[in-house]
Amino acid sequence: MGQQLDQPVPKSAGLTTEAVSQPDVGPAGDVGPAGGGGGGGNAGPARVSINFTPSGKQVRVPAGVSVFEAGSWNGIAIDSTCGGYGTCKKCKVQMTAGSLPVTSLDTKAFSADELAAGWRLACRAIAMSDLDIEVPPLTTRPKAATVGVGRKVILRPALQMRYVEMSEPTLKDQRSDLERLLDAIDDLELEVDVDAIRELATALRKSSFAVTAVVVGSRLVSVEPGDITSQRYGLAFDLGTTTVVATLLDTATGAPLAVQSMLNRQQPFGADVISRISATMLDPEALPKLRELAQETLAELTLDVCGQAGVEPSQIYDVSLAGNVTMTEIVLGIDPEPLGVAPFITAARYYPTMLASELGVPANPRARATVFPSLGAYVGGDIVAGMLASGMDRDRRTRLFIDVGTNCEIVLGNRDRLLATAAPAGPAFEGAQIRCGMRAAPGAVESVRLREGRIDIGVIGDAAPLGICGSGLVDAVATLLDIGMIDPSGRFVSSAEARDKAPELADRLIEVDGERSFVLAWRDEAAAEQPIYLSQRDVRELQFAKAAIATGWHLLVEELGIEIQEISQVLLAGSFGSYLSPASATRIGLVPRLPLMRIVSAGNVAGEGAKMALLSEQERAGAVTLTEEVRYVELSDRPDFNDQFIERLAFPT
Ligand code: FES
Repeated sequence: MGQQLDQPVPKSAGLTTEAVSQPDVGPAGDVGPAGGGGGGGNAGPARVSINFTPSGKQVRVPAGVSVFEAGSWNGIAIDSTCGGYGTCKKCKVQMTAGSLPVTSLDTKAFSADELAAGWRLACRAIAMSDLDIEVPPLTTRPKAATVGVGRKVILRPALQMRYVEMSEPTLKDQRSDLERLLDAIDDLELEVDVDAIRELATALRKSSFAVTAVVVGSRLVSVEPGDITSQRYGLAFDLGTTTVVATLLDTATGAPLAVQSMLNRQQPFGADVISRISATMLDPEALPKLRELAQETLAELTLDVCGQAGVEPSQIYDVSLAGNVTMTEIVLGIDPEPLGVAPFITAARYYPTMLASELGVPANPRARATVFPSLGAYVGGDIVAGMLASGMDRDRRTRLFIDVGTNCEIVLGNRDRLLATAAPAGPAFEGAQIRCGMRAAPGAVESVRLREGRIDIGVIGDAAPLGICGSGLVDAVATLLDIGMIDPSGRFVSSAEARDKAPELADRLIEVDGERSFVLAWRDEAAAEQPIYLSQRDVRELQFAKAAIATGWHLLVEELGIEIQEISQVLLAGSFGSYLSPASATRIGLVPRLPLMRIVSAGNVAGEGAKMALLSEQERAGAVTLTEEVRYVELSDRPDFNDQFIERLAFPT
């Protein structure tokens, strides 16, 4: 099976126009068999069939397309954080029939036994003949914070329901149906949707003129027969690049009824927003596809939380969504290309209230959706929602808000002055570009401690370790700095020094592919019988990421004209921030060196902000006010950015 072959990167690697513009890419049966079926002339078949298991999907694609492309474009989720560019080594699949040559990248990703068993990296696996491919299940429920730090709000939801019983028309009382209804709720000044008028006559007559007027904000959106006032449901979304969280709320009481998170289905397009924007720049078909995937994610979560709570999706009338600018634009079908090129302009900072169906949410067809406004291209609605939830604009104390991620957003200030910036931290915290890196999913090493001279690792799901995720990476480096295995420049010390500093751990410092590496779990302790280790390059990746973030907050501290010690609280936001150890984050210089009790995991504050917008019209309006109060600081404008960045690469001593 498959001889060793150093195969050049195929031109179809990545999501290129060529691959997707082929009309024949699609499920089997859509396409005629011309040249397919593994036969064909000397030049090979024009099309090949790929049977994917366990989905049971058979797709026919042009020969020369990668297995990754064939899967991604046919709705088969293959893991990836690089979007098919051959850098993450996450797209592992097993060929169970057919032939795929072994590429040089395969030899780095798999053992000889695995290669012999047909394991390949899907984005390098070029289908030239029919194949059977087994796709390992993708973790669609990553470990994610679903709740966060929030404020108490006075319940005044935009969604109101008024049950009214009206007298029926007579020859003497010939008011129109709409006049009759509006007279019955004349304490409300309402704009009326034509859709509400369209169904008014039927609703009134079906229920002897006893109806519920459904109002969102100042708009009459629906009139339902009978009394449905007990069904005041709203749905809040935090639409992240990696993880999407949905919370179903009873807006009458503010009680959350169900919450669920899942991986954004856009994952095959890459881990970060830049990969997603690049895909739309390379291929005109990518934007509608990405939009569809985002909407499918929201739809699946909607059905999920409704199922948990025993609520019909049609009973949801109000939706709020907080997301970064790229995710927001894509889910609305707006071309995000201007976000990816200087001067990085958003299509709009504020969005009008819209039908929830614009987001693909299968709520009541009349349901309204509010989308959080943004500050700029790289400080989006999720951060505005987070600021709203944490009350940064109303606190006298100076606080630092850091949403750690591929694009790290940072806000510093108090009720008098707020500054914000974005720092490109790269994907190290997502486990990408890390030799044994993986997302925060079952099997990921999420914590590393030194206990009685031994390395003690914590693994998500208490399973055998499969890889290391962002919080584990930060912990591992912090621990190795503490015991002197890594020096402040980020270099692994020599074996002699290691024996000197930590004799009981010195044998874990080994060479892997010519790189100094520290073993966290030996082969026989690991799930895939591959040792889990931290390489010198991994430490460098982390240094770049933390230096970008530290440069960001240092510059904001300077800009605000305060001393670091004046920061009363550091809020670590987002899923990654929530699982980060404050002690380790401080040890590596990711956050300011402050008493640990001042460093707080804020959880999913974006989701909390989205919930607040459902529960209070005032808070919904407050999000817009917030965007006017915050000044955005562009880091790349600062002449000292590079010098500061280089200075922050080293670890604190
Ligand atoms: Fe194949 Fe990243 S290496 S998708």
